[in-house]
Amino acid sequence: MSEPEGFVPPPYPYDRLAELVHVAEALPGGAVDLSIGTPCDPPPAAVLEALAGSGTERGYPPSVGTPAFRSAAAGWLERRFGITVDPAHVAACVGTKEFVAGVPHWLRLRTPGRDTVLYPEISYPSYAMGATLAGCRAVPYGSLDAIDPTDAARALCLWVNSPGNPTGDLTDLSAAAAWGRERAVPVLSDECYIEFTWQGPPATIVSSGLEGVVAVHSLSKRSNLAGARAGFYTGDPDLVHYLSEVRKHAGFMVPGPVQAAAVAAFGDDTHVDQQRSVYRRRLSLLATMLAALDVVCPQPAGAFYLWAPAPGGDAWALAKRLAVEAGVVTSPGEFYGPAGSGHVRIAAVQPDDRLELAAERLGVSAGDVPHARPAPG
Ligand SMILES: Cc1ncc(COP(=O)(O)O)c(C=O)c1O
Repeated sequence: MSEPEGFVPPPYPYDRLAELVHVAEALPGGAVDLSIGTPCDPPPAAVLEALAGSGTERGYPPSVGTPAFRSAAAGWLERRFGITVDPAHVAACVGTKEFVAGVPHWLRLRTPGRDTVLYPEISYPSYAMGATLAGCRAVPYGSLDAIDPTDAARALCLWVNSPGNPTGDLTDLSAAAAWGRERAVPVLSDECYIEFTWQGPPATIVSSGLEGVVAVHSLSKRSNLAGARAGFYTGDPDLVHYLSEVRKHAGFMVPGPVQAAAVAAFGDDTHVDQQRSVYRRRLSLLATMLAALDVVCPQPAGAFYLWAPAPGGDAWALAKRLAVEAGVVTSPGEFYGPAGSGHVRIAAVQPDDRLELAAERLGVSAGDVPHARPAPG
């Protein structure tokens, strides 16, 4: 075969960590992998029962989501955030990554005169990759004010992510919605960490109205269901309808048993409140571990990552030190854009005993950590 003339997929970021994994694996007890934000805790038993017992395997599931799925998602928004959306304006997605990576393509089919995706300069890589996969321009922004008007005029959409991966930062979502409405640019708000907001109340973009906005939600983080692949989007009725029609033609379907599990997951909040305490404790333990390396890392405003400033701005050196000395595998910040290259992202996604093992390798014991263990009772 001749050399391809077009797109060649770049190395997948996490595939670049093989050497760090190898070094960490060599320690007694093995590697503690805190690179990918994949949950390690179990989903609620009732969710797994619904997954196994729905009897929905035979027929095709509705692409947009079953009535029960759409109502459960709308009910969750109402209960947790006081937002009323009509279940008719809720549509299912197969986890949110496929939606994030696919949406520029579908928006471009509808609006071929626009070719630009605007996304935060330090962010989840799929915003930029979605633009690339659609043959569009991926244009990062530092702040809304700094966006070039010519880029705004060409924009198919603007992404926001709050709480944000990797920094945990919170975004002024109503300001983003207003920015988009003024320029007729759809604002897509990735809210998969919404219930892991630590500073202030959780916020969704749809609280500023539905016009011109789409909020994207996932069960992966909320309910430790990343392996099941379930999420939804809601917002501007015209956009949601368009996207769900296109996706129906393309064959995107959340499997029926997963939709049944999602109904159970959206119906319960207790497990999320418990998970919040687990992440807070782990984030605290990880910050104490970093302090043993003289790295001062603030607690994030949201999400379950530490965004650690690397000494001298050398993220690969810090990642290597963490692998060699603590057996911990982390993600150098350049995975999230060049502006992130001076930081390392550390995900609080291993059980406490594994984190304690890593900390002990650096001479930190669980007793040194404020609230490292749950309070008795
Ligand atoms: C900001 C953000 N958005 C979306 C996703 C994708 O999650 P999922 O496809 O499991 O819903 C992730 C996963 O890490 C994420 O961090």
